[in-house]
Amino acid sequence: MCGIVGYIGKKDTTKILLDGLKELEYRGYDSAGIAVLKDNKIDVFKALGKLINLEEKVNSSASNDYHLGIGHTRWATHGKPTELNAHPHLGEYSYVVHNGIIENYKELKDELIEKGHKFVSQTDTEVIVHLFENFYNQLNDTTKAFKNTISRLEGAFSILLITKADPTKIFFFKNGSPLIVAKGNEKEEVLFASSDAPLIGLASDVVYLEDGVGGVVSANSIEFFNDNYSWSTLPSSKQFAQKDGYRFFMEKEIYEQSTVVSDCMIGRVKDNEILFDEIDSSILDGINEIKICACGTSYHAGLTSSYLFERLSKIKCNIEVASEFRYKEPLLTKDTLFVVISQSGETADTLEALKMAKNAGLKTLVICNVDNSSMTRTADYTILTRAGIEKGVASTKAFSTQTVVLWMLSLYFAKIKNLISSEVLANEIHTLREVPKTLCISDRIHEKTKRLSKRYLHGHGFFFIGRDVFYPLALEGALKLKEISYLHAEGYPSGEMKHGPIALADPELFTIALMPQNLLYDKIKSNVEELSARDSTICAISPLDFDLADDFIKINSCDHYMLEFFEMLVVLQLLSMEISIRLGNDVDMPRNLAKSVTVE
Ligand code: F6R
Repeated sequence: MCGIVGYIGKKDTTKILLDGLKELEYRGYDSAGIAVLKDNKIDVFKALGKLINLEEKVNSSASNDYHLGIGHTRWATHGKPTELNAHPHLGEYSYVVHNGIIENYKELKDELIEKGHKFVSQTDTEVIVHLFENFYNQLNDTTKAFKNTISRLEGAFSILLITKADPTKIFFFKNGSPLIVAKGNEKEEVLFASSDAPLIGLASDVVYLEDGVGGVVSANSIEFFNDNYSWSTLPSSKQFAQKDGYRFFMEKEIYEQSTVVSDCMIGRVKDNEILFDEIDSSILDGINEIKICACGTSYHAGLTSSYLFERLSKIKCNIEVASEFRYKEPLLTKDTLFVVISQSGETADTLEALKMAKNAGLKTLVICNVDNSSMTRTADYTILTRAGIEKGVASTKAFSTQTVVLWMLSLYFAKIKNLISSEVLANEIHTLREVPKTLCISDRIHEKTKRLSKRYLHGHGFFFIGRDVFYPLALEGALKLKEISYLHAEGYPSGEMKHGPIALADPELFTIALMPQNLLYDKIKSNVEELSARDSTICAISPLDFDLADDFIKINSCDHYMLEFFEMLVVLQLLSMEISIRLGNDVDMPRNLAKSVTVE
């Protein structure tokens, strides 16, 4: 989500760090900072907002003879985007930049405060540098202190650390979030970055660090703490590097879902509990009902959750498209929790719906991917989805993280209301933990969607059908296809087909049938049989073989319908992307669409 860079060498250190951060700015841009070292003196520059603000500060006051430095561009997870919360974070004589989330930061912080350490930010990152200094003060050995620090941290953390106690070195560690070490093209030069792009042109030999690998570098040595690493060669194209080797940002973002969904659960799914730092149980005081408003894909995540809020939390829940809600003179009562969902936090209709609810005195909550957006600044409560920047116009990872946040929220509410048995809660939490694995994409599935895509380029339309939560998923599948292939597609509850749409059935009508094993399988099977009897071309997605299907995509068998939901989500995203590619469309920037719809 955030971006990290580091440099040791004889070139202009601040320029290399700032150029590197520019390449990573798309990962997060609510604040940025660098710490640079010369003659045992560390200078730090931080600025809120876009990188240009940091550049201006550095250019007006930095000297140009630093020999080492670290930098960071931030996408807030813990703590608001403020200069104080921007990286690098300092102790008394050391600085750290960090990408990821330290799950056990609260207990570490309490421990360190008791020992006399003073904290200035609200971030989880600051514990790293204090922990390091705590160990160094005892051991007087920087490498041992760094190793001890790492051993106490839990969660995802890629780190670069510099210290006046050893002013020619950068310490590094990678766990979860990406980190690359590179030998510079010049002599006595080492670089770090959290993705390829900042390194291109400056280095060609790199180590893509594996989880659990750390070490220490100086200008003329790179030392790894274990043998689990190997050198490889950097790609030479920047565009290619930003996409991490994928053909399109959409493809990269589909593949990223497993990681970002894990990020989104860090610190929130703990043992047999769901925790949210951002809210507490009083959020449900006086609340009898949930009302959700959103647009497009975010609306589909909301619709999915409306089944979960009623099923798991036993709270009445209804959802509306924000553009409809705005003008219908809705009846709003104060016993309603008003929830808006938005990737960007800027969608005009959703923002207006939120303002209406706020003005009517309702409690408001936003589920959002962009901190400090208009919606997070307006709502009473914010829960961030932590999907990282989504570049593809067709939303993918925003949807999966929204759905997971809303599912966690339904369990959190269920627990507050004491309406869920501990067995059911334990099983739901166990299932949630399986989602990242479910979102890992096998070559078999991707190949299958690629092969099938050539059969679905023509015809007079698509119906995506499903029941229960697979109905919003059908809507989402149809929306993805429409957006990037420009083919007509509709999502329908499968039980509704015989109330009209089945009249369209013929061999040129493609039905994409979502047939989960764990939810209403027999019901949907009969609906699909009715369509097959009328000669519709059926593509079934299911873990169970289905003889009547013209095409069949077999997903893994799992024991919970929400895992089948995520298995199918990936299939639908890949299928629409592959169809779009075959049609020669611009997958990442489809015609007529914008990433953030700030007009009504
Ligand atoms: C579909 C898509 C749009 C957005 C919609 C709402 O792939 O991206 O339908 O979901 O414009 O945007 P946000 O979530 O930013 O409010």
